[in-house]
Amino acid sequence: MVIVKEVSAKEILDSRKDKTILVSIVTNVGSFSASAPTGKSTGKHEAVPYKKSLSEDIKTLQEFSSYFSKDIIEKFDDLRRIEDIVEGHLGANTTFALESAILKALAKEQKKEIWQLINSDANKFPRLVGNCIGGGKHSDTEGKKPDFQEFLIIPDTKTVKEAFNVLIESKKHAEYLLKKKDKNFKSKTNDENAWITSLNDKEVLDVLSEIKVPLGIDVAASGFFKRKKYHYENPLLKRTEEEQMGYLSNILSNYHVIYLEDPFGEDDFKSFAELRKKFPNQMIVGDDLTTTNQKRLEKAIKNKSISAIIVKPNQIGSLSKVKQVCELAKKNSIKITFSHRSGETEENILADLAFGFQAEFLKCGITGKEREAKIKRLIEIQESLS
Ligand code: PGA
Ligand code: ZN
Repeated sequence: MVIVKEVSAKEILDSRKDKTILVSIVTNVGSFSASAPTGKSTGKHEAVPYKKSLSEDIKTLQEFSSYFSKDIIEKFDDLRRIEDIVEGHLGANTTFALESAILKALAKEQKKEIWQLINSDANKFPRLVGNCIGGGKHSDTEGKKPDFQEFLIIPDTKTVKEAFNVLIESKKHAEYLLKKKDKNFKSKTNDENAWITSLNDKEVLDVLSEIKVPLGIDVAASGFFKRKKYHYENPLLKRTEEEQMGYLSNILSNYHVIYLEDPFGEDDFKSFAELRKKFPNQMIVGDDLTTTNQKRLEKAIKNKSISAIIVKPNQIGSLSKVKQVCELAKKNSIKITFSHRSGETEENILADLAFGFQAEFLKCGITGKEREAKIKRLIEIQESLS
């Protein structure tokens, strides 16, 4: 059993140099810490990262420190006991980092890996989803850029290691192609280390099609949906809901895109459903639509809006709630993609969570130490089992 004797927290910087939280705990089996990432194209239905502010959460956590020692943690589901104490007092980032640190302690105490605390029979590895070229809110650039936020590569390989190699090679190949096709290309990367380009959405898809790998797109449509229209900048035009449907249908019909995330605004369950019905063999994925929230997922199921869901633990904070969302998705044959955030730390627990919950996909970038930490952990898990 684990007893949390002391808790403290501090500010650290994420990959974007924004402040985020690192929680440290002292337990009967040693000291552990874990950090939380930060999103930028956040959904409006996400839980807040901090109750009032990061510094207030640090103080609150300190004040709560002595309460935790009354509870004994023996298994994953005992995280509820911690949640009963902190619920309503801390934000999602703080809760997620705290619970992650506790899982690390529990794994050590039980001489297990974190994923084994969730499901010791886990055996299927998630497919990697790597962000290769970016636009939208993640590409902070003066000039033109694609309106879609992420152009993803989704290798289909036997091992995670092979998938990682395909991602790295594809990213290099994409650089070579962008140098040829985009006269403004300067080999610069964005928040998630994806290439920054002045090409537009279709031009990027044409480039990536040359690489001959299955593709995905995160449209992150809420980011440019205002007053009932989708405001495109490259080229400059507004699309109505119907026109957005037509534009995306055209893309799904003409490119090897197997995965389409947030194609419409974050409350448009109906348009998601219409697109899903039209393209039953391609994944229509909810992120801002569902925000790792059980109620939102229930609504998406009722409306038949999605065939896959993004799970970002810090969109909701509580790992018990993450578990409920995963169970509900599985019961309804909705595929699960565990995902990093655009502002990341070197924390690698995401790989254990994705494998433990038997997610079909893990979206965590391609290069950069914060992204690689998660992929390398997944490779380590796979190699430990073979
Ligand atoms: P975020 O974006 O981490 O900046 O919220 C990632 C995504 O939209 O998938
Ligand atoms: Zn997204």
